[in-house]
Amino acid sequence: MTTTTAPAPLLEIDNISKYFGSVIALKDVSMFVRPGEVTCLLGDNGAGKSTLIKVLSGVHQPDEGTYRFEGAEMNLSSPRDALEYGIATVYQDLAMIPLMSVWRNFFLGSEPTKGFGPFKRFDADYAKRTTKDELGKMGIDIRDPDQAVGTLSGGERQSVAIARAVHFGAKVLILDEPTAALGVKQAGVVLRYVVQAKQRGIGVIFITHNPHHAYPVGDHFVILKRGQVYGDYTKDELPLEQLIQMMAGGADLEALQHELERAAEEGDPAAENAAAGLEEEVDKLDELAERAEDGE
Ligand SMILES: Nc1ncnc2c1ncn2[C@@H]1O[C@H](COP(=O)(O)OP(=O)(O)O)[C@@H](O)[C@H]1O
Ligand SMILES: [Mg+2]
Repeated sequence: MTTTTAPAPLLEIDNISKYFGSVIALKDVSMFVRPGEVTCLLGDNGAGKSTLIKVLSGVHQPDEGTYRFEGAEMNLSSPRDALEYGIATVYQDLAMIPLMSVWRNFFLGSEPTKGFGPFKRFDADYAKRTTKDELGKMGIDIRDPDQAVGTLSGGERQSVAIARAVHFGAKVLILDEPTAALGVKQAGVVLRYVVQAKQRGIGVIFITHNPHHAYPVGDHFVILKRGQVYGDYTKDELPLEQLIQMMAGGADLEALQHELERAAEEGDPAAENAAAGLEEEVDKLDELAERAEDGE
């Protein structure tokens, strides 16, 4: 320990396991999220990413392990429960209504009212102004808040969802593959808002399987594999090349290596060279995995 101490985690889980019948979706998963940081959650299909965020956001209750929020141990009984603590989740299939205006979508489920009793009614002017202001703060220039959400691009829609969560006081923002369906330029737009949310002190959990999207915005990387934490690194511990290698997956590389070795045995010198190169890659991956385990 030398200079500054990192802020205390907002959210922290210890040895969380989740079973679906005989399927072990998560086993002894521990991780934490600090305010003002982006924690990237990476892993192949089936690694347990969605199950983990469903546990974090109150959709699933874990079978084992502890969950702490702002230092206090707790149990979330529903997504609404999570939202009340300030844990907001933006799913890939956004909960938005395409034909409705941007401002109506922004306030969906939390409509501001003015007046009281029988005079209480939806305050549309306030809602439109707030939508435009809040989006403006995130650097999103909506020409007309009356515009239907369906006319926005995928990146803009994700951005509206992020701005909405920020406006309603999210402390932890969970983004499930927000860039997966987007082209490079649109993904860039969303990544900018991820950084803005972080700069506003929110603890962001960013789920992706794309190391090129994770690396520029991430402060901390948690790699899941078959329901377990395969690696947990800060950015300075993990060069981009290593992250890419880990995402490529040791198993795939090994299978490829065996294939090449077989070709080499049959006398293909190019395959022999390639197999030797791959062996090195696999060794490096094993080393990384061991280091990850020792670091726990
Ligand atoms: N509701 C469920 N019932 C049974 N098995 C599930 C359920 N949800 C997820 N699983 C299983 O748990 C494992 C992890 O899945 P998931 O969390 O969706 O992975 P990821 O999001 O990383 O692709 C998979 O084997 C999946 O089939
Ligand atoms: Mg998933």
